[in-house]
Amino acid sequence: MSSSIRDDDGVSNPGGNATLDEVLQRSLAANPARRRLMLAGLGAAVVPFLSACGGGDDDPVAPPPAPAPPPPPPEALLGFTAIATSSDDDVKVPAGYVATAFIPWGEPINDLAPAFKADAANSAAEQEQQVGDNHDGMAFFGFNTGGNAFGDRSDEGLLVLNHEYINPEYFYAPGSDAANWLLPFSFEKARKAQAAHGVSVVHARRAADGVISQLKSSPYNRRIHGNTPMTIQGPAAGHALMQTAADPAGTEVLGTLNNCGNGRTPWGTYLTCEENFNGYFGWNGARTPSALESRYGLSANGAGYLWHTVDPRFDLNATPNEPNRHGWIVEIDPFAPASKPVKRTALGRFKHENAALTVAANGKVVVYMGDDERNEYLYKFVSDGSFDAANPTSAANRRLLEAGTLYVAKFEAGATAGDKMGSGTWIPLIHGQNGLTEANGFTSQADVLIRARQAADRVGATMMDRPEWVAVNPKKPGEAFLTLTNNNRRGGTSSNNADGSTTAGSARPPVDEANPRANNVWGHIVRWMDGNGDASALSFSWDLFVLAGQPAVTDARAPSSNVNANNLFNSPDGLAFDSFGRLWIQTDGSYSNTGDYAAMGNNQMLVADPTSKEIRRFLVGPSGCEITGISWTPDRKTMFVNVQHPGEVGNHPRAPKNAGGSTLGDNDIARQPTLFSTWPTPNTRPRSATVVVRRTDGGVIGT
Ligand code: FEO
Ligand code: CA
Ligand code: CA
Repeated sequence: MSSSIRDDDGVSNPGGNATLDEVLQRSLAANPARRRLMLAGLGAAVVPFLSACGGGDDDPVAPPPAPAPPPPPPEALLGFTAIATSSDDDVKVPAGYVATAFIPWGEPINDLAPAFKADAANSAAEQEQQVGDNHDGMAFFGFNTGGNAFGDRSDEGLLVLNHEYINPEYFYAPGSDAANWLLPFSFEKARKAQAAHGVSVVHARRAADGVISQLKSSPYNRRIHGNTPMTIQGPAAGHALMQTAADPAGTEVLGTLNNCGNGRTPWGTYLTCEENFNGYFGWNGARTPSALESRYGLSANGAGYLWHTVDPRFDLNATPNEPNRHGWIVEIDPFAPASKPVKRTALGRFKHENAALTVAANGKVVVYMGDDERNEYLYKFVSDGSFDAANPTSAANRRLLEAGTLYVAKFEAGATAGDKMGSGTWIPLIHGQNGLTEANGFTSQADVLIRARQAADRVGATMMDRPEWVAVNPKKPGEAFLTLTNNNRRGGTSSNNADGSTTAGSARPPVDEANPRANNVWGHIVRWMDGNGDASALSFSWDLFVLAGQPAVTDARAPSSNVNANNLFNSPDGLAFDSFGRLWIQTDGSYSNTGDYAAMGNNQMLVADPTSKEIRRFLVGPSGCEITGISWTPDRKTMFVNVQHPGEVGNHPRAPKNAGGSTLGDNDIARQPTLFSTWPTPNTRPRSATVVVRRTDGGVIGT
């Protein structure tokens, strides 16, 4: 097929209107001198927020006879011009690309839903019908030709995305307490926050000119949030630790929270990953936390959301087992709007980042998963059953995540010490094996999975520098990459206790070959090869793909040689391959642009050649955001990227200051919500949003 965007005309836009690309080609043929002017206009890297209806962006041009378009060039792995860093409040992309904001927080999920209120005064009930906050992991699922099930269309599909958390300073209209805008807190406020968490399913259509819009009348549009009923499935379902007064059977839970990265299955379902669930819980009155509670970071006040003060479900003294029902991988079928999401307990309970799924040569489904906290572990799940490639959406395939074996990674130095490569093994977390015994306190496989962190402690897994996203190389079976975002708690002598009693994140292990920095402020990416290309194998070889940092640093903190003055970044987090084999790297780190972080600017997205290791910057986000979540239409002519928490003040170089020179705090920002950032809607408080990226010539992204 040609690489022209006209490929989509027959399906998405049966009308006779000229596409933007056709208009451009005809116009240029008639007047070649216009090319430079038009490209300058179309290539503007910054595009303001467009409403979902979009379109209508070019005047019709009288059509002269259309010349045949030139043949597309062969696809290049890194075929774009790298862009500079930026600390501006907008999105930058390379020349020849446009980036348009889409479905920001508060966007009505369908044509019956209430409008977003710019003063953040929407109620909890209204928020349940609007796009959630803090967009994160994301996947585009094309429709089939019939438009009623999973398929491979690029012009129409379901965009499914996570809403990780909220930014209270922007999320709530200020209350009556002058010293704290959040107060008085209320059950209604907790419910509003719960409604902004979870997942959105958005029916997306691409017009012939490449513009994406939401089909608001579609029954597929759906919100799944913090109070949506879900099934608990797998070995941990029904275990005593999963039972509550509201659910004595331990088989149904309300909601999914802190949905970070994601995965997708070849049978057309979405995997959402519950990360820092502990932050929503707390307790009223006295409590001595158990080892299990401490190991998962539960504390009296959590992360400050205050839900436990108004909602007994989040008070450990009222509902002690509720946290055990969070921290799982959840499977959602976006093509069945009435379906109940399922928490897949066979994949283990920890602070899940993403779920990178691949099918091994023997048909086993393999899911790689990081546990994002300082000094936590890398896991993989291998299914009991085998994938039926001839019938990808079969009922049998849809059950492959129900049962399997969970493993945890141990990284070894290998034959040569100090060469930043080595070998490793996957250690099974099976009750009765490797010390996961009654004598050591593990009572069943359910217990092992609910307490997966403690099981991994017991078997001696390798403590990593915050395992974030895993990406599987589609061009090299068995190869995968993992971002290790940063870690300021390495370089000591204390490891996680084998009895699982260490408080989350408190150990300070010595450096090792896979985590070679004592204070890893910039992060790195490790890659490995399972077996000889068998993703289900239990041994691997590994090396470091990139160590981020400053090239001027030449001591033990020195970056790898593929980091240079033109591609500086810190804290790699989101990570994904496109189907052609480009490795896309997204950052969630310091945007101070000074000191260790000089010349790195706002958080960004880069692209790497996995073979040559060359890295180029492709996108820079607006002020205070992180860049996370990425997906493509199957033809890779449309890319979806998420901008999360724009406007987070932090230590941004343009952070607003008070008269004394101090950076404004949340209570001030809450009352002046347009002071620092207004991305993506002019004169409006900053809002997380998806960014739709396309080439102005309709070509394939990245080429
Ligand atoms: Fe939700 Fe580890 O990022
Ligand atoms: Ca080595
Ligand atoms: Ca993340």
